[in-house]
Amino acid sequence: MSLQDVLEWVPERSVEEDLARQIDFDRLPAHVAVIMDGNGRWAARRCLPRAEGHRAGIDAVRDSTELAARLGVEVLTLYAFSIENWKRPAAEVSLLMGLLKRYLRLEIDTLMRNDIRFQTIGRDDELPPDVRLELESAIARTANNGGMRFNIAFNYSGRAEILDAARRALAAGIAPEELDENRFSDLLHTAGQPDPDLLIRTSGEMRVSNFLLWQIAYSEIWVTETLWPDFRARHLLEAVVDYQKRDRRYGGIKPQPVVVGS
Ligand code: FPP
Repeated sequence: MSLQDVLEWVPERSVEEDLARQIDFDRLPAHVAVIMDGNGRWAARRCLPRAEGHRAGIDAVRDSTELAARLGVEVLTLYAFSIENWKRPAAEVSLLMGLLKRYLRLEIDTLMRNDIRFQTIGRDDELPPDVRLELESAIARTANNGGMRFNIAFNYSGRAEILDAARRALAAGIAPEELDENRFSDLLHTAGQPDPDLLIRTSGEMRVSNFLLWQIAYSEIWVTETLWPDFRARHLLEAVVDYQKRDRRYGGIKPQPVVVGS
């Protein structure tokens, strides 16, 4: 995708257009991962039940997904439900499951239109059968799409993912000397995908919350005070512009310019 794909989607002469024009499309983050946070606070500030915050969060999911696809991001991963989230009241858990199902039913056409390939990362086998059915249907329908890969992390936790991968390595009889970082990465839910270059967290919290613990080793982190339901294309564009100003060294040092004649 390209600047043109973004410009035809954002309002003319807007902040979004200005930000989009600052982006170097040859240096996009290949994988953007997002910790969507602040739905409850968004609702509380409006004296609404928490459920309304989660419902409003769907608009932000829709906006971010379409923009990421139009930008040409290879992979977008959104953290929607952690294994720890089962500790929330049953009604909230059930609402989040229902919202995922509804989102997939309503948005499948948008995913198809934008050539987006959907998948989930997490312990799918522990989800209720009706949720699994809906997920499997969306995964199957979008399986041949060749554009952006869209992962929803659902019933996901980074430690559980690493533990499951270690168990798979043992079950497959992989000898310790055969196991290296590449081989181990291939045992994770994100096998074959680039690690996140950019990790976004909304609502100002400075935590990684058990998200993609292996994969974010060298991710650039961008935190915004914006609560997830208010997150829009403008914020994602701001994050990408900021990401492109970062100096990524992966533990090395920045090559010094050669001074001729010294
Ligand atoms: C964190 O806000 C958000 C979640 C636990 C769920 C995120 C879910 C959605 C955006 C809607 C469903 C998504 C999809 C993809 C269908 P919080 O409740 O922890 O907020 P708080 O910290 O302000 O209480």
